[in-house]
Amino acid sequence: MDKDALNKITYGLFVAGVQDTNWFGGCIVDAFMQVTFEPATIVYSSMNKNRTGEIILEKGEFTISVLPSDVHPFVISNFGYQSSRKTDKWANVPHDIVNGLPVLKDMAAYYRCKMVDARDLKTHTLFYCEVLDAWSGTKTPLVYADYQKSMKPAATAAFMEFQKTKISPLL
Ligand SMILES: Cc1cc2nc3c(=O)[nH]c(=O)nc-3n(C[C@H](O)[C@H](O)[C@H](O)COP(=O)(O)O)c2cc1C
Repeated sequence: MDKDALNKITYGLFVAGVQDTNWFGGCIVDAFMQVTFEPATIVYSSMNKNRTGEIILEKGEFTISVLPSDVHPFVISNFGYQSSRKTDKWANVPHDIVNGLPVLKDMAAYYRCKMVDARDLKTHTLFYCEVLDAWSGTKTPLVYADYQKSMKPAATAAFMEFQKTKISPLL
């Protein structure tokens, strides 16, 4: 099997937002897509080791911020390279709280979702979710392949710098 063929599936890149015990949690997600229009439903594949998925299973509701093509690479490493178990990731980025859940400022769009079913895939859990609310801005969404092609080294460099200084480049 040519696994490169699977890289031809087009994804976006998103930040999921949840309410954890001590702070808001969340992580970067690419395995997220709309599957029906009316009613609007999406599926989201969550790695079982992730704290974000545990909270979604427990609480049901979460937000999705759609990353724009001009997103600062640190947003991706901040949410994708460390866990909410130990870190308040949202404290490092400009955000708003909408009905009790965090969304990124300057995103392309955001959704409020409610998990209605879940299927255990052993390494991942597939969430089936209803879109409760949606807001669209003017920015163009980031394409996952473009992140892989040209943004990944910058995301890593920004995270290494943050680990040294503990100062977010966005605040
Ligand atoms: C580019 C990128 C894409 C990712 N896509 C997913 C994904 O689709 N689903 C998922 O559960 N984790 C995905 N991750 C991994 C999580 O973002 C990462 O494990 C994060 O640290 C989990 O944080 P948490 O423990 O606070 O939930 C991705 C990470 C990166 C950098």
